[in-house]
Amino acid sequence: MLIDAIRPAAAMSRLSSEGAFEVLARARELEAQGRTIVHLEIGEPDFDTPEHVKRAGMAAIESNHTHYTPSAGIAPLRESIAAYASRFRGISPSFRADEVVVSPGLKPLIWNVLCALVDPGDEVVFADPAYPAYASCTSYLQAKAVPVPLLERTGFRLDLDELAAKLSGRTRVLILNSPHNPTGGVLTRSDLATIAELAQRHDVTIVSDEIYSRNVYGSEFCSIAALPGMRERTILLDGFSKAYAMTGWRLGYGIMPAHIARAVALMGQNTYSCTASFVQQAGISALEGPDRPVQAMVDEFRRRRDAIVDGLNALAGIRCAKPDGAFYVFPNVSGITSDDRRLGSYLLEEAGVAALAGSYFGEAGRGYLRMSYANSLDHIGTALDRMRAALTNFPG
Ligand SMILES: Cc1ncc(COP(=O)(O)O)c(C=O)c1O
Repeated sequence: MLIDAIRPAAAMSRLSSEGAFEVLARARELEAQGRTIVHLEIGEPDFDTPEHVKRAGMAAIESNHTHYTPSAGIAPLRESIAAYASRFRGISPSFRADEVVVSPGLKPLIWNVLCALVDPGDEVVFADPAYPAYASCTSYLQAKAVPVPLLERTGFRLDLDELAAKLSGRTRVLILNSPHNPTGGVLTRSDLATIAELAQRHDVTIVSDEIYSRNVYGSEFCSIAALPGMRERTILLDGFSKAYAMTGWRLGYGIMPAHIARAVALMGQNTYSCTASFVQQAGISALEGPDRPVQAMVDEFRRRRDAIVDGLNALAGIRCAKPDGAFYVFPNVSGITSDDRRLGSYLLEEAGVAALAGSYFGEAGRGYLRMSYANSLDHIGTALDRMRAALTNFPG
């Protein structure tokens, strides 16, 4: 009786949850029962945060950087982000500090940016499959999600013909995410040039989620913001979670025209007030300190990617493209079953391998699994051995 006394708002039914956190919770339950689980479900680097960044965070607490800051972030970090992002992406003239908004992780900023841009009934275009936060926020805002499929045969790049057909005067925002979660696909410079031309023709704002910009293996990273005429219609999103193994610190940022930055910072002021002061200080050290730890992580990710792709392709019924970015593979398991959720749950319960069903990321993900290779080569080897054994008994 009492439980029903408080009724959640109807709007809550428009939010969706993230499969990764649900599978992680079940994996933890199994571990509590004494099972050993290989975790390939969660999208976070298994490396430690670089030493110099940890030291900067501790020193910042010692020096009492423990108070509120401006909602958009402290000036030295905003300057440091503007300089780093311009240098890394070849942006000229450089971004300015007043175009930068700092946030406690990138996820709340995705939310605040969409809140600042999208009205009910607007169309928001993004890939299918995609990072679940885009669909959840779009639905919460009572806007219309317009999916554009990714093509496995082109390394999970966007189907540009389909994109062209789906953009219109009703499109408010096109969300790009390259390198891409969940597939690891990377858009080429030529893809981005076509997308830029379409965005200009239809007067569409681009939200470019570049959180995996440092996780690229082989192909070059290119930001749409660097293309002619695109800086003023792009909201660039990035953060420290993936590049610097700082998921738990919660530090992200966006770069956008100053008037939009003020609107987005106002959203932040109304929700989280500001990002932890000492975490912002540590962020300066990440951007301005030695870059070697990031490069070492990328080299290790490349070795793991090669191992997991080769291992998966050696399993009957699985076909796995070699992705150029992020730290995920997206094997096609339709040779085993089209019910990716049942397969994911079978692998977790029977083989102790935690992976995510592709359909957690959208309809077009059905028949795929998402596996994170942010785990050691040893653990990846164990996962592959366990899968080989378990799949022979999968009740198809
Ligand atoms: C595509 C994408 N964007 C944003 C985020 C959020 O990152 P953060 O940890 O900074 O909130 C993630 C995290 O998995 C992601 O995959």
